[in-house]
Amino acid sequence: MSYGRNAASVRTALLPAIALALAACEGPQSTLDPQGPVAERIATTWWVMAIGALVVLVVVMALLFHAIWSGPAGRPRWRANVLLSVAGIAVPSLLLGALLVFGTGVGRSITQPDAGALRIEVIGHRWWWEVRYPRADGSALLTANELWLPAGVPVEVVVTSADVIHSFWIPRLAGKMDMVPGSFNALRLLAIEPGQMRMQCAEFCGAQHAHMGMRVSVVTPPQFEAWLQQRSQPAVDLPQAAVSRFLALGCGECHRIDGSEAGGTSAPVLTHFASRPSIGGAAAAMDGVHLRRWLPDHGAAMKPGSRGPVMRQLAPADVEQLARLLEALH
Ligand code: CUA
Repeated sequence: MSYGRNAASVRTALLPAIALALAACEGPQSTLDPQGPVAERIATTWWVMAIGALVVLVVVMALLFHAIWSGPAGRPRWRANVLLSVAGIAVPSLLLGALLVFGTGVGRSITQPDAGALRIEVIGHRWWWEVRYPRADGSALLTANELWLPAGVPVEVVVTSADVIHSFWIPRLAGKMDMVPGSFNALRLLAIEPGQMRMQCAEFCGAQHAHMGMRVSVVTPPQFEAWLQQRSQPAVDLPQAAVSRFLALGCGECHRIDGSEAGGTSAPVLTHFASRPSIGGAAAAMDGVHLRRWLPDHGAAMKPGSRGPVMRQLAPADVEQLARLLEALH
């Protein structure tokens, strides 16, 4: 095979790989596509570290090939000692020292508390997110599996867990923060402009770890206030027969619907369920088809390992009635 054909085949193989690698830098869950100052500093750190590592790799490889090709040419021993001291001790110490100082500075700058920040509490459950927006009077707006943030407003997300260790991560906004049962960790972030992105649990927590995500909606501050207002209202115009069936089946023991007698706290609150982007955490899109597939066995097939009670006896008529009730929860 000629050199020209070789180069052409290398190009054919490399170009799609490079395109793929660059495409992976974008998307709703990419740390290299930051949407706020905290994520931006983390992305910059990543680039500095990556480029630094690349430079070191190139220099080491060049020295290696130089050593292989030049052979034992009878150079004086003192030259080898100088090379070892400079390239083996001084340069790595300087480089690693500089990266350590740089990284520590970034770490400090992104964890500074802001007294005026909006506080949001997120509690990890296997496998869903409980989200609370505390009010001035001590109460809180309660929702699940959706996170709304006002653009341009500093936010402090206080995270904890109800069972095992999870990790709260919105790659385009900030770093990860462990969610540890019994302890409260604060993560500071700021989203610069409206848009949508995804957050993901970043600590393996069991069978449905991969489905433990949620959509993050960044909106303007007035839109955020309107959303808070809307979500603070109890559910209205509920089909009463369906509510009675919901309560008779025991769903209200775990789920809560404001505006009804259902007041459970161990499962996601359902008051404005139909307005959410997904069902079962991030297991499926919010639509009638998925809802009717979810209900008969309480998600056992769509989300294996899910901890909710398996209701295999749920009759088709009950499924339809509960689906209509849930679809009415806007
Ligand atoms: Cu929760 Cu992984």
